[in-house]
Amino acid sequence: MNRILVIGGTGTVGRQVVSRLAATGAQVRALARNPGAARFPPQVKVVRGDLTLPETLEGCLDGIDTVFLVWTAPAAAVAPALERIAKHARHIVFLSAPLKTPHPLFQQPNPGRALGEQIERLIESSGLQWTFLRPGMFAANALSWWAPQIRAGDVVRWPYLAVPTAPIDERDIAAVAVHALCEDGHAGAEYVLTGPQSLSQFEQVSAIGRAIGRSLRIEEISPDEARRELLTIGPLVAVNMLLQAWAAAIGQSAFVTSTVAALTGAPARAFADWATDHSVEFRA
Ligand SMILES: NC(=O)c1ccc[n+]([C@@H]2O[C@H](COP(=O)([O-])OP(=O)(O)OC[C@H]3O[C@@H](n4cnc5c(N)ncnc54)[C@H](OP(=O)(O)O)[C@@H]3O)[C@@H](O)[C@H]2O)c1
Repeated sequence: MNRILVIGGTGTVGRQVVSRLAATGAQVRALARNPGAARFPPQVKVVRGDLTLPETLEGCLDGIDTVFLVWTAPAAAVAPALERIAKHARHIVFLSAPLKTPHPLFQQPNPGRALGEQIERLIESSGLQWTFLRPGMFAANALSWWAPQIRAGDVVRWPYLAVPTAPIDERDIAAVAVHALCEDGHAGAEYVLTGPQSLSQFEQVSAIGRAIGRSLRIEEISPDEARRELLTIGPLVAVNMLLQAWAAAIGQSAFVTSTVAALTGAPARAFADWATDHSVEFRA
């Protein structure tokens, strides 16, 4: 029996992974810093752990064969946490990013990229079997980027509106993760995952407008204005990472793969469908 620990199971992708694993009848355990607030299906065992406190990981990893890892904790905690994981598990599926894909959107030097590379190097030398999932831009970014403006009114102010990406539905990332976690044959694989279509940011906001039946006024702002106005979506370092990536991708179609369909047997979900399924979160 393959016993699976999901780390990051309360987050955007991890929550989908946990519920899909539970639905397939897999033996799934979810690590949470605050189990009381985790809200998982009843068949999921929730264990308390914190990636920054490696001693808390021992009990969580006891008897575990396979780990799904989402990393948003500080870089200093990576090595001790991976040491514990490698002591117990045999296979790790890591939610990374398209670090090796030769498209300018993915090739800008920044702290997030450096952290991803550091984690991958440590995993590769850990003795674990590994699988790296490399999704591009998440469709779910729209919830932190545009939902607050859309809930507040009809105007969306945003930089680089003409730049296309291929937003991927978190359910498709999770569907691939479940295959990689539950089947043999994914060791050493690196899966670059995208949505089905190259869509400009303008087209993405317009799709949300259509999904909620509202006509939105979409206004281009300069990178300097964005630096001032977008601190609501994250710290300046994160805003700068995005601005740099979009600036580098001007005039290029988004990088699109068919990996979701190849691995799951179902086409990747369209952004318009994601927007319809999340329409309640864009309504005031
Ligand atoms: N957004 C994108 O477009 C994009 C694209 C490619 C790759 N990625 C990568 O995807 C990852 C983020 O995935 P996501 O959006 O699903 O994450 P998320 O929604 O931000 O969730 C993060 C998860 O990590 C857990 N966590 C945070 N610190 C922890 C700690 N110290 N100990 C244990 N658990 C901890 C959180 O648990 P709590 O409930 O305890 O907070 C939560 O479950 C990042 O590594 C990012 O680089 C993102």
